[in-house]
Amino acid sequence: MEEKWWKKAVIYQIYPKSFQDSNGDGIGDLNGILSRLDYLERLGADAIWLSPVCRSPQDDNGYDISDYQDIDSMFGSIEDMERLIREAKKHHIGIIMDLVLNHSSDEHRWFLEAKKSRENPYHDYYVWRDGEKGHPPNDMRACFGGSAWEWCPEVGQYYFHQFSVKQPDLNWENPKVRQEIYSMIRWWIDKGVCGFRMDVIDQIAKEPDRKITANGPRLHEFLREMSRETFRGRDLITVGEAWGATPELAKLYSNPDDSEFSMVFQFEHIVLDQEEGKEKWDLAPLPFLKLKETIQRWQTELYGCGWNSLFWDNHDLPRIVSRWGNDGEYRVESAKMLAILLHGMQGTPYIYQGEELGMTNAPYAIGEYRDIETRNMYRERLENGYDEADIMASLHAKSRDNARTPMQWDTSENAGFTRGTPWIKVNPNYRTINAESQLHDENSVFSCYRKLIRLRKTYDVFVDGTFRLLLEADEDFFAYQRENTSCRLLVICNFFGRSRTCPLKPEWEQMELLLGNYSSIEAPEIFRPYEARMYISKMEA
Ligand code: GLC
Ligand code: CA
Repeated sequence: MEEKWWKKAVIYQIYPKSFQDSNGDGIGDLNGILSRLDYLERLGADAIWLSPVCRSPQDDNGYDISDYQDIDSMFGSIEDMERLIREAKKHHIGIIMDLVLNHSSDEHRWFLEAKKSRENPYHDYYVWRDGEKGHPPNDMRACFGGSAWEWCPEVGQYYFHQFSVKQPDLNWENPKVRQEIYSMIRWWIDKGVCGFRMDVIDQIAKEPDRKITANGPRLHEFLREMSRETFRGRDLITVGEAWGATPELAKLYSNPDDSEFSMVFQFEHIVLDQEEGKEKWDLAPLPFLKLKETIQRWQTELYGCGWNSLFWDNHDLPRIVSRWGNDGEYRVESAKMLAILLHGMQGTPYIYQGEELGMTNAPYAIGEYRDIETRNMYRERLENGYDEADIMASLHAKSRDNARTPMQWDTSENAGFTRGTPWIKVNPNYRTINAESQLHDENSVFSCYRKLIRLRKTYDVFVDGTFRLLLEADEDFFAYQRENTSCRLLVICNFFGRSRTCPLKPEWEQMELLLGNYSSIEAPEIFRPYEARMYISKMEA
């Protein structure tokens, strides 16, 4: 059987607002992306996952869509989008659209109609419950704070919203809603996109009366229907965002029979550094052995019967080098170590803009944050008596704006992101961390990512090799082996900042060193802070 193209692909995520401004209004846009296609081609990305660019009042930076078949004027026009799809193709890059299907904006035509009256044909496009003002149907909370129910005086009912009040949940129980969505998806397929990322897709089949949000009983029924009616058999890449996924569920989502998606984003490994049962703001040290165990479980359970997505970063997560690396003295080494560790695994790797430069978290003051989740959390926690310094420590560690600072292109003012005033503050370290200084430097973080992408395309073992975790109980090393009938790949990473002697049998001395993160090896068995190496050997015939 022909392997799917996306099993060898590496995807680059763009957060359009912060990538490249082309017209000086301080906001990134489609023509800005167009002007950076050479950069992405040099890196070797096969596709761009574009965070939402559809029309939106931007309450949640575009994750609140008011027209799924138009581009927000802040980003450009539908013609710009068509041109981007066309030009990207010439650079061998596909475009993946971000579909926000759990909710729309409250300014979407459907919702404006829905709230006119209970008899309006669009009323049932959303999730309504009777109640009395001040007495919501139940105590469910929205992800961005406050009640999940909002009173609508026009119809004298509450509507349900899992996110902000400006993001009313769509009613997937209504077949008309589903058909509207499918025809919109087909419209985008006809425009020539190469795939879709599906926002919080595990939350569409909600049953608020039973307080069910993720993994509702009809979820997979809806997903199979959607696949059948839209992308199935078209060789597109589809990835669902599923915070509630377990390996068992991921095998359904990414079943090789094509019935649902190509793969899902699961988050089990990326929420480990928080107090158990609490929120991401409640910081806890990373349990390293648990991280290894979690990754190993996903790698082995999906082998041959599903497919993983591989990522450290996205627009909702802090920068990995600040989080689990070292963004001071060993920034370059640790950024590369994390890259080598991730890109040797089985799955489709995702690189979030700036990750390939080793960009870091933002040292913002409270007034400099723009994110609705961040601002709501700050207010709520202050009201609930939290210490301000603790709140700020949580924000510096976990705010989504850490990932949303403008892309750092060069040393010119505003990092080459805009000639105007950026919508969000540029990270002051752009004079040392920027693309220009890394592009042609063999030892840069950028070059390391570039090499990793090439290696994935060169050796099949990256795609089809089995996974075996080594040194499971070691407190410093993250090491594993991949193997297929022709090759053995060995990845050894010193995950922390102390030098260590590697306890593995030094058979790797007979292997070929594919890539490391230090320019030379001092003593083969000694791994310096964050040192990472990737070895390969061909099997005897
Ligand atoms: C997803 C997006 C996030 C957004 C939320 C609501 O988690 O990644 O940015 O705020 O869904 O759409
Ligand atoms: Ca602009």
